[in-house]
Amino acid sequence: MASVTFDKATRIYPGGTKPAVDQLEIEIADGEFLVLVGPSGCGKSTSLRMLAGLEDVNGGAIRIGDRDVTHLPPKDRDIAMVFQNYALYPHMTVADNMGFALKIAGVNKAEIRKKVEEAAKILDLTEYLDRKPKALSGGQRQRVAMGRAIVREPQVFLMDEPLSNLDAKLRVSTRTQIASLQRRLGITTVYVTHDQVEALTMGDRVAVLKDGLLQQVDTPRNMYDRPANLFVAGFIGSPAMNLVEVPITDGGVKFGNSVVPVSREALSAAADKGDRTVTVGVRPEHFDVAGAESDQGVAVSVNVVEELGADGYVYGSARVGGEDKDLVVRVGGRSIPEKGSVLHVVPRPDEIHVFSTSTGERLSD
Ligand SMILES: Nc1ncnc2c1ncn2[C@@H]1O[C@H](COP(=O)(O)OP(=O)(O)O)[C@@H](O)[C@H]1O
Ligand SMILES: [Mg+2]
Repeated sequence: MASVTFDKATRIYPGGTKPAVDQLEIEIADGEFLVLVGPSGCGKSTSLRMLAGLEDVNGGAIRIGDRDVTHLPPKDRDIAMVFQNYALYPHMTVADNMGFALKIAGVNKAEIRKKVEEAAKILDLTEYLDRKPKALSGGQRQRVAMGRAIVREPQVFLMDEPLSNLDAKLRVSTRTQIASLQRRLGITTVYVTHDQVEALTMGDRVAVLKDGLLQQVDTPRNMYDRPANLFVAGFIGSPAMNLVEVPITDGGVKFGNSVVPVSREALSAAADKGDRTVTVGVRPEHFDVAGAESDQGVAVSVNVVEELGADGYVYGSARVGGEDKDLVVRVGGRSIPEKGSVLHVVPRPDEIHVFSTSTGERLSD
C-alpha cells in the first residue's frame, strides 16, 4: 500500500494554450479514499490519467509512496484502473476477464483461479464466472470491472466515473458497496465523479477542481461547513446554497429588515479590499421561517413547492440587497406553504457563510 502525491502536476495538451490541469497539489494518505469532483471539462480525468501514466506530465511530479513515477510506463506503476465503460472483453468469460491481467503477468493458472474466486466471492459474482459480459446486468458488469482491479492487488485503485452507466437506484447502492469494499481492502483510492453527492458520501476527503485549478481539498464535513470560495459554496450541496450580495452595516450584513451579525474580522477583511458589499451564502436548510405577518428578514413569494415527505423545498423570489433574487428555502414536511403565499425568512447567524464579492474567497471562519 502507498500514499499518492500530486506535486504541482501540470498537463498541457498539444496545441492547448492553457493547462488542462494546472499545478495540481494533493497528498493522499496510505489507504485513503480521495474523490476528485468538479463540472465536466475541469480536468478530473486528465488528473487521473496522469497518475495512471496514460497522459504525459508537462510540469511537476507524481509520486506513489516514495517512488517518483512521473515518467514510468503504466505497467510499472502498480495501479489498477476502473473505467466508466468498464472495457470488458466481450468474447471472454467473467473469470477470464477478471484474471486477464494476471495471465499477461505470467501468473500460473491455479493461482489466477484462486484469486478470481476470492474476488468473485467478495463481489457476489461466483455464480456468473462462466458467463460472457453480454449476459450480465449493468450492475454485474460494473462489479466484474471492480473484480478485475481487485485481483491485481495494486497499491492504488483509480476509478473514473465507474457508476455513470447505472440507473439512479443502482448507483446509490453500488456507491455504498464500493466505499465499504475500499475500506475493507484498505487500498489507496482516487475516484473521479462530477456528482457532488457521490463525492460527499464516498470520500474520506474531497478535492474540488474548476478549470484545471484545485479549489479546495477537505473532508466532506468541512466542504459543507466551510467552503473556501464562492465556486465550492455553489457546487457542494443540493439544492445549492443561496448566494446574495448584501450591503455591509455596523456589526453585520443587512438581510431585508434584519441585520445578521458577522464577525468583525470578516467585515474588516471585506473593507480592506474596498468592498461595500459581501456575498452571503445561506443553505436552504439554514433559514428560520415565519409567516407573512412577520416583519423579520426578507419576504419570499412562493413560486414552486417541492414536497419530499419528510421536508419540502420552497422556490421563491425576494427583494434582497436591492435586487430581485430567487431563493430556495427548506421547510418541514408538515408546514408546506401554499404556492403564491408569502414567507419571511431570516438566516441563522451561526450558519451563514460570508465571501468577498470581489475575489470570491471566504471571509468568515
Ligand atoms: N486528448 C485531449 N486533447 C486535447 N484536449 C483535451 C484532451 N482530453 C481532454 N482535453 C481537454 O482538457 C480539459 C479537461 O478534460 P478532462 O480531464 O477530460 O475533464 P473532466 O474529466 O473533468 O470532464 C477539457 O477542456 C478537455 O477538452
Ligand atoms: Mg472525465
